[in-house]
Amino acid sequence: MSGQAYEDRGNKDLSIGNPKGQGTLTPSPGTGHAMETANAYLVGDTMTGGYGAGPDILHDCTIAVNPGEIAVIVGPNGAGKSTAMKAVFGMLNLRQGSVRLDGEDITGLSPQDRVARGMGFVPQNNNIFTSMTVEENLEMGAFIRRDDFSETMAQVYELFPILKEKRHQAAGELSGGQRQQVAVGRALMTQPKVLMLDEPTAGVSPIVMDELFDRIIEVARTGIPILMVEQNARQALAIADRGFVLVQGRNAYSGLGKELLADPEVRRSFLGG
Ligand SMILES: Nc1ncnc2c1ncn2[C@@H]1O[C@H](COP(=O)(O)OP(=O)(O)O)[C@@H](O)[C@H]1O
Ligand SMILES: [Mg+2]
Repeated sequence: MSGQAYEDRGNKDLSIGNPKGQGTLTPSPGTGHAMETANAYLVGDTMTGGYGAGPDILHDCTIAVNPGEIAVIVGPNGAGKSTAMKAVFGMLNLRQGSVRLDGEDITGLSPQDRVARGMGFVPQNNNIFTSMTVEENLEMGAFIRRDDFSETMAQVYELFPILKEKRHQAAGELSGGQRQQVAVGRALMTQPKVLMLDEPTAGVSPIVMDELFDRIIEVARTGIPILMVEQNARQALAIADRGFVLVQGRNAYSGLGKELLADPEVRRSFLGG
């Protein structure tokens, strides 16, 4: 796949976010900071918080992405990956930590205001309107725009030709991979400055996964940084500039995608050897 194009990408920070070195996953204070994240374009910085008055799900959790990058968040089920994404998008009240976009503290902004600032988010579930047509879904995506968005729609159709073909079909009739294209396309309709994707390849075949990754790389090449959660950890880290392994709401490891792929402990614990 064209992930090869990303071979020589990424920053040159060669640190792995485990100060104890390989061989332990014991979380330590500050483990999220081995990579320079404080000044990243989008950063959820040392986030602690949970749902409503419930217990904390995130503990000092840091995730971040820079321009030109694909950053990938991996980790076991229930680790808090989706929660971290929701926190960055403003769907969670943080008890500690902050979210910054392009140097500005946006911790107090509503999700709507974050969209207006240029954040696009595709949640893990219920990310399309199944009873609406493909085209109506894209139009809904452009809800904050007052200008002519036909050119953006043409770009989305260029990126995902199958959506153009099926534009008058109900989105609910599409295959899993096609629905994910609708969801990503909908998010692109706001012309986001940064795109957040929660498991964009969930429930699709390996071939469709590869195709989706190719399209995501294509989006990244247009200059939109991408912060995404992936359960296909090995494949995702292979195209990632930056990777975060979350365990129980904490950063267990962070580093270049390639480094994490090569790390024996990460391989053994999270990538099936
Ligand atoms: N809406 C919610 N309300 C309360 N607890 C939740 C909610 N969503 C997720 N959780 C809890 O938060 C923890 C992390 O879940 P989640 O972020 O979905 O993990 P992941 O995406 O890594 O699989 C789990 O214990 C889960 O039960
Ligand atoms: Mg999740």
